Amino acid sequence: MTIYKGEAVTFEEYGKDLQKILHTTKFEIDSTKLTKNQILLKTIASPINPADIGQIGGGYNDAEPRTDLGNVSPNKPTNVGGNEGVFKIIEVGSEVSDFKVGDLVIPLLPKFGTWRNYAIAKSKDLINVSKLQIDQAATISINPSTAYQIIHQFIKDWESGEFIIQNGGTSQVSKYVTQIAKIYNLKVISIVRDGKSEKDLEYLKELGATEVIPESEFNNEKFDITKYTNGAKVRLALNGVGTSIPNLVKSLSPNGYLATYGVVGGATIEYDSRLQLFKNLSTVAFWLTSNTYKNPNFKIETVNKLIELYNDKKIRDVSYNKIYFKSGEDLTQVLLKGVVDTKTHGKQVIFYED
Ligand SMILES: NC(=O)c1ccc[n+]([C@@H]2O[C@H](COP(=O)([O-])OP(=O)(O)OC[C@H]3O[C@@H](n4cnc5c(N)ncnc54)[C@H](OP(=O)(O)O)[C@@H]3O)[C@@H](O)[C@H]2O)c1
Repeated sequence: MTIYKGEAVTFEEYGKDLQKILHTTKFEIDSTKLTKNQILLKTIASPINPADIGQIGGGYNDAEPRTDLGNVSPNKPTNVGGNEGVFKIIEVGSEVSDFKVGDLVIPLLPKFGTWRNYAIAKSKDLINVSKLQIDQAATISINPSTAYQIIHQFIKDWESGEFIIQNGGTSQVSKYVTQIAKIYNLKVISIVRDGKSEKDLEYLKELGATEVIPESEFNNEKFDITKYTNGAKVRLALNGVGTSIPNLVKSLSPNGYLATYGVVGGATIEYDSRLQLFKNLSTVAFWLTSNTYKNPNFKIETVNKLIELYNDKKIRDVSYNKIYFKSGEDLTQVLLKGVVDTKTHGKQVIFYED
């Protein structure tokens, strides 16, 4: 009999004061009590994404209280934080035939609760990502998937040399947009906040950005996109941070799309209605979570396509900061430090050591 000692970052109420709301819940999993369809997972890594913090704040993508953290004593319902992560299968029930011990897997649906060191799942909950390196698998579910789908969702007839313009050019999503666009011979203009280092800007170009423009230049009312596009169409403007809207819209060619997928900057979407009318622009929203609930198979197809792109070296994983949870530490404290460090050091991913 093996008893696995688990801990999870959990919350019972929604709110912004993470120090107060988040706490560690301990649980135990007895491997002999796994049912024939259950799969026992050890967490390898789980990122801290802006949407995870938004979820704890409440009001959208609310968590689903779990009672199945462990199987030794009854658990009271609690919400487990985190929506993305990669796990290794360490035991399978007698009737599990589509996964085996050693496989690397990610959750199919959001709200899995990935900030925990062990989990019990069923085959239907998982996507096999064993063909990926762990660093790639840890973040494939959300940002690369968003980038892949958003390029294809609104425009189906891209032509070589056409442009995408995006704000939040330093975000993980936009770095994958840049790389995936390049595969289709699309050009990308990335808007970034002022003050970025030469090294940061160079990195965005290395990933494939045609131009990287600081916000202060872009937001100037004299900004003219044609200086950069040489007559090619700008068909998609991606608003990933909720800023720079008027000039994103002004940069679009007739029949273009302004697609909002992120709101961290908090600005309202406001622009001259004459632009929308005379250019026939569409203002649309993209939300991976809702796409995944509507069509889980499309999420599986997206992940499989991305696995192919990684293995063919058409995209590479974008760097992030690794933080480590060692047994004996308090997982919530590790997570809270990661949330703070996100503001100064970018994306943080928790790796769970044995
Ligand atoms: N709709 C969806 O399905 C979906 C899916 C995935 C992600 N998202 C959203 O996409 C966005 C990016 O996610 P990510 O994981 O790629 O983020 P990330 O790598 O953590 O990057 C965050 C980005 O936001 C920028 N930023 C933060 N606060 C800002 C502000 N006040 N004004 C302007 N820019 C600001 C940062 O700029 P600096 O580098 O200058 O700090 C950085 O570019 C988030 O809003 C996230 O919620 C949405």
